[in-house]
Amino acid sequence: MSARVFLIGAGPGDPDLLTIKAHRLLQSADVILHDSLVDKRILALAADHAELVDVGKRCGKHSATQATINKLLVSYARTGQIIVRLKGGDPMIFGRATEELQCLQAADICCEIIPGITAATAAAASLQHSLTQRGIARSLHFLTGHGAEGGLPKHDWVSLTRTGGTLVIYMGSQTIAGLASHLIEAGMNPAMPAIAVENASLPEQTITIATISTLPNRLSRPTGPTILLIGEAMGNKEEAAVAAAQLVAG
Ligand SMILES: C[S@@+](CC[C@H](N)C(=O)[O-])C[C@H]1O[C@@H](n2cnc3c(N)ncnc32)[C@H](O)[C@@H]1O
Repeated sequence: MSARVFLIGAGPGDPDLLTIKAHRLLQSADVILHDSLVDKRILALAADHAELVDVGKRCGKHSATQATINKLLVSYARTGQIIVRLKGGDPMIFGRATEELQCLQAADICCEIIPGITAATAAAASLQHSLTQRGIARSLHFLTGHGAEGGLPKHDWVSLTRTGGTLVIYMGSQTIAGLASHLIEAGMNPAMPAIAVENASLPEQTITIATISTLPNRLSRPTGPTILLIGEAMGNKEEAAVAAAQLVAG
């Protein structure tokens, strides 16, 4: 049986960053269940007859509970129409896709997943900083900045300071002060480059360039979705070029 439910990544906001497949499916969907974070210009791609259902998720918070969203998804899917479940960024990164997929599977409903551009790579493109860098950042770590019960998540802070890679923190703008102090207490150099990108890919994008110790004060109460990028690779591009040249010479 071919899929009638499509779990689609809407990307970071700019409609031009949708995949061609996402664009095509949005135009043919009968029902679109979408998060609040999804840009209006993307929703405007829907057919005139399409029913748009805002399930309210925004920055990890949501007005409809996850259980309600799961039930809605299954009941719409049972109508036999083409259903799109549209999530910001990539649906498989901090998108609670597993719960929705499990509910659909339990109801014997097929679902196809269409990946989207995640906030991390959209921010890297805006910054023109690679998230990995030869000799400087050998790994990449996607983290939540928000615990399931609110407040800080229970990360292994010491391990995070020893990765030798770039830390990308989703949903961390409200907890940045706690995140920064845990990382510094765990051994991170207070001068470690740290950048916040708010509304990546959108006209209202704002970039705050700082260090892990100065970012909490420099970041002025962002209202849009904000991603944090921490690590040597976020430092001065000239330094990175010198280090790369030294590697080649060595
Ligand atoms: C619930 S998570 C969803 C992540 C999404 N699935 C993705 O792959 O980008 C929401 C968080 O993603 C980040 N985010 C999403 N869109 C963003 C954007 N355009 N600019 C910066 N951060 C963004 C923010 O950290 C926000 O709090």
